[in-house]
Amino acid sequence: MSGPSASPSPELARINAPGPDEPFDINVDDTTFGKLGPWLQAYGDIIAITPHKRRKPALLLNHPEHVKQVLVSNHKNYAKGVGFERVAMLLGNGIIVSDGDFWRSQRRMIQPVFHKKIIAQLALMMQRCNEQKLEQWQQKATDGTVIDLTQEMSALALEVILRALFSEDLDRLIAEQGENPFTMLVDDVTRDLKLAMRFRALTKHVASIMQQRREQNRIELDFLSLMMETRDKDTLQPMSDKALIDEVMTIIVAGHETTAGTLNWAWYLLSQHPQIEQTLHVEVDALPADPGFDDLGALSHTHRVIDETLRLYPPVWLFSRKAIESDVFKRSKGSDVDVPAGTDIFLSPYFLHRNAQHWPNPDTFDPDRFNDANIRERNRHVYFPFSLGSRRCIGEFFSLVDMQLHLGLLTRYIRLEHVATEPVEIEPLINLRSRHSIMMRPHNRTP
Ligand code: HEM
Repeated sequence: MSGPSASPSPELARINAPGPDEPFDINVDDTTFGKLGPWLQAYGDIIAITPHKRRKPALLLNHPEHVKQVLVSNHKNYAKGVGFERVAMLLGNGIIVSDGDFWRSQRRMIQPVFHKKIIAQLALMMQRCNEQKLEQWQQKATDGTVIDLTQEMSALALEVILRALFSEDLDRLIAEQGENPFTMLVDDVTRDLKLAMRFRALTKHVASIMQQRREQNRIELDFLSLMMETRDKDTLQPMSDKALIDEVMTIIVAGHETTAGTLNWAWYLLSQHPQIEQTLHVEVDALPADPGFDDLGALSHTHRVIDETLRLYPPVWLFSRKAIESDVFKRSKGSDVDVPAGTDIFLSPYFLHRNAQHWPNPDTFDPDRFNDANIRERNRHVYFPFSLGSRRCIGEFFSLVDMQLHLGLLTRYIRLEHVATEPVEIEPLINLRSRHSIMMRPHNRTP
């Protein structure tokens, strides 16, 4: 890395923000992950980085006021940015990728599907999945078997999202195919073009479930039926089948790895912090034997453990936007930064969540950061694992309920002891994962 630049290149001068002299392509990979931290240290909280093939620098923002400007107060000026074309190979034009009027119409139609009342119903299904997992782990604890936590969280999160979409049609699909065709998302951890093609081939199963439901005039209480029934408020038209399938695939991908990764890190952090684990045990031991949706209010420490896990390991660690028209980022120190139209903007929950200016001892796991008093004292735009503003994650409540119910039940009866086979390292791809599987030895515990 070169030091802070005394005489910036002409392109950097035009954008009026400091940054490295070397050209660099920001990506979701180890190289970018390794560079961004030191660059933010060296140049401050708004830095210009010029890609190899373009003369126009991109901006990396690491200040809560600028995050607010891009995602909330001036969000209309920022479209989805670079990198989303790769996501589109998997997801077509689902709402994580789309923009403009099409996104607005789709989001309006899908929003009611994620209503609290629906999630409360789906919580029963989450409980059943967790009960099964508990039985398996209790058996493994008795047998003294070590588990691959990373793989298990991936499989569990996938099952929950598939059941939320397809209810019992998932069992019918597994019976017909002899296996669950979607498990390729658990087994194949690469996210390359080959996987994209195999994943897109799964759309035929979604189309066939939709067709069966139509033929049988069958409506289930799940995301798929609700999306088949939803209508645009203005035109009263349903989604096209193509749009519906893209949204189903979007929900699977957006909902699976994010939740799986968070639970993977949460269990790991608990295994390394016995006192925090003990506070969690006191909380879950006071709950009914099988905590459900109505018990979530009593799971406040559990919620804070999840919030803090998402601070340290936000699954979506880097994402992008593109400025539609020019804009200005004001700064308390130094001159304002002019943003030309078309500038690529990068935001990183990971680096802002670990910025020592906003978080004392940023690398320490401390769920108390999320008690009411501490939240009130902080700038609210310094924490954004689910993004912010109108494009905030639509599945936030669903995943929080899912993760709270999981930890609420499982930590009541099981403690996981880390078995250090390989180093625990971050793998910063599209999602921030653990590079190697985290292995754990389950122990039975009595509440
Ligand atoms: C720990 C769990 C999760 C995290 C950290 C997370 C994070 C995020 C983030 C950061 C975005 C914004 C991306 C951007 O604007 O570029 C997003 C969008 C989205 N998420 Fe999540 N997500 C999680 C779980 C879920 C679940 C469970 C679902 C579905 C059931 C879901 C569905 C979506 C969808 C559809 C969008 C696009 C929303 C839009 O643009 O209108 N996510 N998520």
